[in-house]
Amino acid sequence: MNLQTGEISGGVSVSNKKILNPMQPLNQEEISYAAEVVKNHLGGKASTYRFETIQLVEPSHEEVSAFQANKKIARSARVVVYRFGGSGVNIFEVLLTTGVIIEEKYIENARPMIQLEEFIDIENAVKEDDRFIEACKKRGIFDMDLVCVDPWSAGSFGPKEEAGRHVSHTFAWVRNSPRDNLYAHPIEGLNATVDISTMEVLTVSDRKTFPTPKLSSNYAADLLDSVRNPLKPISISQPQGVSFKFSNGKIHWDNWSMVIGFNSREGLTLHDICYDDRPICRRASIAEMVVPYGSPEEAHARKNVFDIGEYGLGKLTNSLKLGCDCLGAIQYLDCWVSDINGDPMKIENGICIHEEDFGVLWKHYDFRLDETEVRRARRLVISSFSTVGNYEYGSFWYFYLDGEIEFEMKATGIINTVGCIPFEGSKYGTEVTPGVLGQIHQHIFCARLEMAVDGAVNNVIECDTIAESTGEENPYGNAFFVQETMLQFEGGRKAKPKAHRYWKFQSEHKKNGMGKPTAYKLEPSHTISMFHDPKGPSGGRMGFAYNDLWVTPFNKNENYPAGDFVNYSEGGQGLPEFVSQRRDLQKSPIVAWHTFGLHHLPRLEDFPVQPVIRCGFKLMPVGFFDCNPAIDLSPEIDKDSCEAREAEKGL
Ligand code: CO
Repeated sequence: MNLQTGEISGGVSVSNKKILNPMQPLNQEEISYAAEVVKNHLGGKASTYRFETIQLVEPSHEEVSAFQANKKIARSARVVVYRFGGSGVNIFEVLLTTGVIIEEKYIENARPMIQLEEFIDIENAVKEDDRFIEACKKRGIFDMDLVCVDPWSAGSFGPKEEAGRHVSHTFAWVRNSPRDNLYAHPIEGLNATVDISTMEVLTVSDRKTFPTPKLSSNYAADLLDSVRNPLKPISISQPQGVSFKFSNGKIHWDNWSMVIGFNSREGLTLHDICYDDRPICRRASIAEMVVPYGSPEEAHARKNVFDIGEYGLGKLTNSLKLGCDCLGAIQYLDCWVSDINGDPMKIENGICIHEEDFGVLWKHYDFRLDETEVRRARRLVISSFSTVGNYEYGSFWYFYLDGEIEFEMKATGIINTVGCIPFEGSKYGTEVTPGVLGQIHQHIFCARLEMAVDGAVNNVIECDTIAESTGEENPYGNAFFVQETMLQFEGGRKAKPKAHRYWKFQSEHKKNGMGKPTAYKLEPSHTISMFHDPKGPSGGRMGFAYNDLWVTPFNKNENYPAGDFVNYSEGGQGLPEFVSQRRDLQKSPIVAWHTFGLHHLPRLEDFPVQPVIRCGFKLMPVGFFDCNPAIDLSPEIDKDSCEAREAEKGL
């Protein structure tokens, strides 16, 4: 199906050009056209430029309202380019109806995201460098075809040869054979820096070496000695089809509706999330993530990668495979991004949509009447997977029948491996197989949530549970209650597990049946403690990670927790800068930014491929409904389950 038109293949065909909802991402033609306008503008020099991103300039709230009132609105694209051999980035805003460039900006000290197409160029540049080849030979590695070089972002550490440049700092591994798992064989103590803008190898650092571990650790089934007997199949069938449908660019499922968006930086985005046409969240995305590592060793101390701001989860989105990635009655959406030349690039089956049974939703047995009422839970799942080098990230949004929204990040793939002396390990990691170390690290995500519970203006309430002191009012010392504090000004807040702290986003004007403001709450369930010095060269660049919740008044220019251009950023950008304005939160649409993540000391079980580990958060209705919104689900008995039992009996 086409994400841009929301039309299912084989269904009613609608031209790609038709925009059914203003939040729909740029389509193939729009990407192509925006690139053409910018290329024409650059004229003879166009071929020396590369395209970082071409994304929709998301329409303002007023424009969305105008569109809903059947007025035409003009779409525009934000095009970011950078010059091969040059520095800085150029940003253009192109009006797609006329091809007019309505805004042009050059930021001299900004670096673009590292592009997928540059990965292999960086690897080749390093592998062709004589110093690097020599260092490999010294380690007994002669077949350069088996050597792999991963292009890490370089952080901002200030060596003079990197000043003003756009640099990748690389790590190397070697395969035993062409399909062997490279990460079992780190080439330790050998790093190079490459100027991405010229593909010049700036430095090759060859230090004290550990032997390169030779033992293979593979995961592809055909490279294993044996595979276990498969279990009997589980078949998920929905003989009457799925319960969701698309109309006017929106997905509708049960009482839920929303627009599914996508861009090359954040990947999956959701817009205009409503239940029973009541707004809850205007826009939801995972806007940044960073992976700080804990080893002080020379090259490894630099590892602090912003996988969204420096690479872009969208462009690295996988094409999913039916029956493997996704089970059951699946609807896929194709996604369009731009490639490095500005050409539209299709990610087929980039987004997966399906429904899942989710066990019991509610139940009660009246022992006096001997009667049971039970209803089953079901959830709508909207998901995508991205591969960033050695790691995979699965972004899963869940919508439940009782009004709950959940985000789950699934982390899998291969841990970043480092060499060590076999059986000696290091206190900064776990030796997962002889001579191979997985260093301690974290995966820290930041969700950006434009909360709009029953209206554009929401108040944010911090809720702590307090134990009352024993005394006249509390003679038995048992009293505890929830204390609510409204946040007046923007800023960062910390979770307080001992107080079971949560935050409520409540409507400015709408009241529930008990006369209280309708609300949704965010319970921080996967907060992260920071171990990097916030004043260090990496700590300062990930300021967003030092608070569990940030609240800012909505500003269309504030989209990224660690700043617009994160590669080589100097620190302090993004949320710490936004909140330094101390703006008032009252009477304003707000944005909630929630930091959550995974604290990861690798286990032996995480190698050679890590089973999925999960983190995320939930948005739960609190007084948004007047009673359990799933009370009216009809009682059902699943016939297939009963028939399966009968069939078993007959065996
Ligand atoms: Co990890």
